Amino acid sequence: MKSQIVKDPHILYECSVQDPEFDLEFFAKTFKRRNRRALRTLREDFCGTATLACQWVGQNAENRAWGVDLDKPTLDWGREHHVSRLDGAAERLELIQGDVLTTRTPPADIVAALNFSYSIFTTRDQLRNYFAQVRKSLKGDGMFFLDAFGGKDTPDECLEKRKIPATKYNGIRVAPFTYIWEQEKFNIIDNHITCHISFKLKDGTKIKRAFTYDWRLWSLPELQELLLEAGFAAAEVWLDDWDEDEGDGNGIFKKRRHYDNQEGWVGYVVGLMGAPAPR
Ligand SMILES: C[S@@+](CC[C@H](N)C(=O)[O-])C[C@H]1O[C@@H](n2cnc3c(N)ncnc32)[C@H](O)[C@@H]1O
Repeated sequence: MKSQIVKDPHILYECSVQDPEFDLEFFAKTFKRRNRRALRTLREDFCGTATLACQWVGQNAENRAWGVDLDKPTLDWGREHHVSRLDGAAERLELIQGDVLTTRTPPADIVAALNFSYSIFTTRDQLRNYFAQVRKSLKGDGMFFLDAFGGKDTPDECLEKRKIPATKYNGIRVAPFTYIWEQEKFNIIDNHITCHISFKLKDGTKIKRAFTYDWRLWSLPELQELLLEAGFAAAEVWLDDWDEDEGDGNGIFKKRRHYDNQEGWVGYVVGLMGAPAPR
């Protein structure tokens, strides 16, 4: 299949920063190990194009999902590019244009809020309130999955380039391109961080600052403490080991109580609603 130079920022974003198969496998395994039953219902907060929720309902006829996002054009893009490919499975998916703080959905097995989207909440009160709202969308044995990033390099202004190889995407082959992660500003007084994603394509086209994020950089202790303060019974941190040769994580995530800092790490923080379901 001949590769095509793709200029759609959503496709470039999904090819470079999302790995829904990996996330869903981790969620399903972790949920089953704890609750001794299969994960079936998922709410994706800050769902954007809802790639995770769409993959979930497409994987099994018993799976259901809800996706919540404020931005109609992004949801519509997801409807056109992902939901339209689901056929009958689309009946088990509901995409809702709404605020994660106020949108109510039936209690789910898990809520996932990925790509650090919760970092738009910049005070402890705001983030605790969001976590408390998440509890209302979860079953008694439910789990809340967030991701978090950090490391020795994170507080610095930086421009990190990563070559994305040719990738199969919805029946096309996306030509190789460069993904650029820019940490423009970091304020040590309030941990406010401004970041951008840009892309450079094979034909030289630059899509500068296609996505911009104004976030608070939350630490792992803060995230765990706020989950507990919001009423979660427990909070866990899952991280993978550093692969010196690859200069990246090895992708095998384990629950950690101790972890030596690395240049950069990305992990999952998991909030547990209560006791595991009885066997
Ligand atoms: C970083 S993108 C995340 C996309 C996707 N979840 C991912 O994993 O890549 C953040 C999304 O959050 C949405 N958003 C921001 N504030 C929100 C809110 N209060 N409620 C719902 N969605 C919100 C934005 O519209 C945007 O689509």
